[in-house]
Amino acid sequence: MSKHKLIYQIYPTAIGTLRDIADKIPLIAKLDVDYIWLSPIFLSPWVDGGYDVADYRKIDPRFGNMVDFRHLVSVCDKYNIGVLLDLVLNHTSSEHEWFKASEKHDPWYKDYYVWRDKPLNWNSFFGGPAFDYDQIRGKYYLHLYDKTQPDLNFYNPRVVKEFKNIIHFWSSRGVAGFRVDSANILADSAFKPGYLPRIAGFFNYYQTTQTVDILEKLFSNEKIFTVAEPVGGDFMSKAKFRELTRKAFDASFNIGTLDAADTIFSMKDKIQKIHYKHWFKKLAKWTPEKKFSMALETHDTPRAVSRFDTDPKVLAMLEFLLPSYNPCIYQGQELGLKNPELSDNIDDYPGVQSRQMYQRLRKEGKTKAQAMRIVKKSSRDNARQPIDWADYVLQDHNPDSVLNFYRKLIKLWREDIVIAEGALRVRKTTNKGVFDFDRVYKGKYYSVHLDFSCKTPSTLKNDLGQTIITTRPS
Ligand code: GLC
Repeated sequence: MSKHKLIYQIYPTAIGTLRDIADKIPLIAKLDVDYIWLSPIFLSPWVDGGYDVADYRKIDPRFGNMVDFRHLVSVCDKYNIGVLLDLVLNHTSSEHEWFKASEKHDPWYKDYYVWRDKPLNWNSFFGGPAFDYDQIRGKYYLHLYDKTQPDLNFYNPRVVKEFKNIIHFWSSRGVAGFRVDSANILADSAFKPGYLPRIAGFFNYYQTTQTVDILEKLFSNEKIFTVAEPVGGDFMSKAKFRELTRKAFDASFNIGTLDAADTIFSMKDKIQKIHYKHWFKKLAKWTPEKKFSMALETHDTPRAVSRFDTDPKVLAMLEFLLPSYNPCIYQGQELGLKNPELSDNIDDYPGVQSRQMYQRLRKEGKTKAQAMRIVKKSSRDNARQPIDWADYVLQDHNPDSVLNFYRKLIKLWREDIVIAEGALRVRKTTNKGVFDFDRVYKGKYYSVHLDFSCKTPSTLKNDLGQTIITTRPS
């Protein structure tokens, strides 16, 4: 079986109900994807776009019901596409019945979450303290994200068992696997106090064996595909996490690698210059060796085309011409979508991260206009807008479209042995955004020239100098 598996992420509210998603599968299938990963579709109060789950076995009514879900799975089946669900392990919603029982000190549930008599001085990812006081229980609870997202206590074997059952519940309903949310920060209670400011220090946590043990326990016995989302950290921490969790996961995202380019990532509010050279070097070092799942966008990042201010075709070439077995396309990326013109009024933003970022910036002394300028550029809500399907169909029919460029690249990535399996040999990296490299396989080599500034066409050539693909056909 080929190791090459292409993942396609869907942020469901940007498409509609499960039936709407099913209707779009024939079009999406033309990208030749192996899996669709659905961001959470479970019952949720929707404080954090579904990443605050109130019941892992129920589908949120906004998307439909179990019959609709089965329909989606059967449509995907027809196209040989597996459905990956998003497994949010680190925390639940505070609306989850486990939390309600834990608050009341129910003997079975009292240790399902991380409770403390005194808070630690940690900050949460979204800003503000990571511990909040719970009036009912009379103790502090940990929340690495929003205060409505209490962290589970994975040292409690009952919690592990709950998730083993949930995983089985879905795999027995035709689910092909899971994308595992915040996979590297599960065993929180081992964190040492004093990690300030913000969240620095969390990411060394991959080194502890507990997280790895927990993850292996969760996913053993199931024939499923698993891809991890390690949050925060640099390439090295992600690479180590990947190494340690090879048994638990088939793949692991590189998402934070965008940070190496100092891109505006979801949790950041600085608009920084891109250090191309640094970024390319990191990509070249870690990508081939560790076989990351290459991804340039998610529901947590602004659109890459806007961030890099470049031709979407150059980004596509970077993603599919570097070695990667499990790249991931975020819905709309294949159309070359840019950030939309978001509102100037913070009340119009659905995402908790945007609102908390705004509040923090205001507290730090920024004017309304300054704060909104930053939020508009870096908000996750940039990526969560409805897809324009009329545009999709137009691009489907246009041989020169970004969409068809992606399709060509995906075919090469899958079928051309030099691109599929060749080693990477870097020739040149510049701070202006030039990245030249070869892919080498058994005496054959292809050369790639990428130019993020678009001053020259980006090209892929074979060893006879013939152009296989270019951003600017003559
Ligand atoms: C992950 C998700 C993000 C969410 C967070 C908390 O990083 O990708 O959208 O807010 O976890 O679940």
